[in-house]
Amino acid sequence: MADIKTLAVVGSGQMGSGIAQLGAMYGLDVWLVDTDPDALLRATNSISSSIQRFVSKSHLSQVAGSDALRRLKCTSNLEDLHLADVIIEAIVESENVKKKLFSELDKIAKASTILASNTSSISITRLASATSRPRQVIGMHFMNPPPIMKLVEIVRGANTSDETFSATKALAERFGKIVICSQDYSGFIVNRILMPMINEAFFTLYTGVATKEDIDTGMKLGTNHPMGPLELADFIGLDVCLSIMRVLHVGLGDNKYAPCPLLVQYVDAGQLGRKRGIGVYDYRKVSEPVKP
Ligand code: NAI
Repeated sequence: MADIKTLAVVGSGQMGSGIAQLGAMYGLDVWLVDTDPDALLRATNSISSSIQRFVSKSHLSQVAGSDALRRLKCTSNLEDLHLADVIIEAIVESENVKKKLFSELDKIAKASTILASNTSSISITRLASATSRPRQVIGMHFMNPPPIMKLVEIVRGANTSDETFSATKALAERFGKIVICSQDYSGFIVNRILMPMINEAFFTLYTGVATKEDIDTGMKLGTNHPMGPLELADFIGLDVCLSIMRVLHVGLGDNKYAPCPLLVQYVDAGQLGRKRGIGVYDYRKVSEPVKP
């Protein structure tokens, strides 16, 4: 695999913007793509403030910060990605929507391009089946927020080549990340374990066992987690949590993964967590209990 010089990231939400930032900070030319121009604007603002924080903490020089911002280009036109060496998809957690995108990217990208997905749970083998290059399709699952969290979970599909795996691992390591490898089963490693815990926290709230504050405090102080499960769900996005639970439920075929009705209700009510200003907690004013 030739040197990776140009990275493209499709989806400029909380994950895509963070991955694009990493690419630009580590010397790559980066295209950031979104169908929603407002999302691109929000991403540019958040990347620029995050880079500024790196500079003010002396983790990055002012010159390196300005260079990183200069290397970043935004677009809504997928055709702009025809020269990218690696394309990382970070759009909505829906298999059909991702498959449609992979099929489009397959037609646009040059023959050598690696198509990676930041999916939290969806089968890489099935995403690869939407392309003519399954050997060059791989899961590259960053943690939230990508510029800070040390882990990247790499997922090989049934046909991912050794060359694609090595190039993807090298890219993650270039970003200073520690890599773990998972087989291609729903939820991989991290979300296979994390999401049932978050779902159980919703059941604990739903069945009136405890208040949301006590559930979160219990898990923070009782198990040394930095965030409680309900706070963490708000941080991840309740829509993302629900999509992952549905993938686990269908993919692993066990009712123990059925999403909690309360989680479903929050999503139905549009209370998606921090990104909407309201989820289990209300971030618009100081932490009043919120019912969907
Ligand atoms: P988000 O909702 O913040 O952002 C998704 C972005 O994709 C939106 O800006 C939307 O406009 C854009 N988009 C949707 N369809 C598109 C298309 N066809 N073409 C271009 N742009 C499109 O979502 P978030 O949280 O960034 O998640 C993205 C992916 O990353 C999902 O697969 C999720 O499971 C995964 N992920 C999420 C984590 C989290 O903590 N939120 C952690 C790790 C992975």
